[in-house]
Amino acid sequence: MTLRYMPDAGRLYGPEYARDPQAIYAQLRVRHGAVAPVEIAPSIEAHLVIGYRAALDVLTNVGGVWSKNSSAWQERLPDTPEAAGAIAMLGRRPNALFSDGAEHARYRKVISDCFEQIQPHKLRQMVSEVSDSLISQFAAKGEADLVADFARLIPVRIFNRLFGRPDADSAGLTQALSDMMEADGETGARGSDAFGRYIGELIQTKHAQRGEDLTSWLIDHPAALQPEELGETLVLVMAAAYEPTANLISNTISRMVSDDRYFSSLTNGALSTYDALMEALRAEPAMSNYGPYFVRQPVHFHGTWIQPAELVLVSYAAANTEPTNVPEELRSDGGAYLGFGAGAHRCPASDPAVLIAMTAIERLTSHLCDLELTVPREELPWRPGPFHRALAHLPVSFTPIRPDQPGDSPWAMQPLSSSTPSAPTSPARSVDYVTSAPWSS
Ligand code: HEM
Repeated sequence: MTLRYMPDAGRLYGPEYARDPQAIYAQLRVRHGAVAPVEIAPSIEAHLVIGYRAALDVLTNVGGVWSKNSSAWQERLPDTPEAAGAIAMLGRRPNALFSDGAEHARYRKVISDCFEQIQPHKLRQMVSEVSDSLISQFAAKGEADLVADFARLIPVRIFNRLFGRPDADSAGLTQALSDMMEADGETGARGSDAFGRYIGELIQTKHAQRGEDLTSWLIDHPAALQPEELGETLVLVMAAAYEPTANLISNTISRMVSDDRYFSSLTNGALSTYDALMEALRAEPAMSNYGPYFVRQPVHFHGTWIQPAELVLVSYAAANTEPTNVPEELRSDGGAYLGFGAGAHRCPASDPAVLIAMTAIERLTSHLCDLELTVPREELPWRPGPFHRALAHLPVSFTPIRPDQPGDSPWAMQPLSSSTPSAPTSPARSVDYVTSAPWSS
């Protein structure tokens, strides 16, 4: 069967989907099995792979039956605002996400090689410093929106530094990305222009003067990316890093503060932050359906005919929550299931992503150890969008803490300048953290 014979396509848009996507996946599972027809926006159709086995069959057969090249699909789309929105997220670009074979291997190696240069202990130190600086902005108030005040700011500040820009530029980047992701029409276009300018200026500055940062390493990589490839790789890595990491952080915190097993772990260690992260990656993966794939020839796949030029989306969220009989101890994915994808396009930055999220959450819960949601979890607002699982707000209250209180506090770890000697109460820092960019502030 092809998509046009499926009028009962599930809708991955609108308030009903944003409120409870798992209820939609459950209905689709009953009606269609492992592969279901959906619309990601009015009249933009896709096959959604919701079975775990079927998802693995796609992800581990790229280069054979499956391809990441979206050109043929893109060419068939009508000239509508909905189609333009879909192309913005899924249109073919010369980068790792939309290429196959040797081309993919080349792009991917550039990204992996550059990320390998980031030293985990320095990244952890940077995340601690950024987290504490953000926590100190609201810790004395006794309440916060942990999406706006914390989770969304962490990756943007971290990656702004990792790419080699001064902290002052992170506010503009935050605004550009949120305009681009959350809005369409004029605001979306403005965000997209501002993001383009940020990337353009970044490349120009680093071409003029290299630093110890991801941008300079990308420019100097022996694969010699052409200007367009370099720009697209920067756009991919930044977009891939920012939204999912912010959502991983807020989705995980929302679980910890609404489930006694984690809540009590803040004081007595019942279940750890890592357990909460794995659970968020399984049940509410930040990139819930952003797994675009295409077939090279007509394929009868788990009961559905799929044609070339039709969009197939792997639903990490639905596949991960499919009821199965596989005992936990037989799984080899550590509990995260497909939260970071699988196969050739599996997230190349899952380790730094977990490190960033773990460190940020642990700083938060160590300073504010009685965090409480101010509304029941079921009433938390979620952002619309077919591709991600993203909280709009995460309102919490806690016992306020003061800058002058004794012992460890978020104020004790404010950024050091090279001329500022460590206070006796500051945590120990390595010399290169203080002196070398981009880790230093
Ligand atoms: C440090 C932050 C991150 C960076 C720099 C990053 C970067 C990337 C890149 C470059 C790709 C494309 C790889 C390829 O096509 O070969 C990718 C894929 C992916 N990432 Fe990440 N990512 C980050 C965080 C996350 C997080 C937090 C999640 C989920 C919670 C996530 C989930 C995924 C998934 C599911 C894919 C596979 C997409 C597919 O199958 O097409 N990533 N990531």
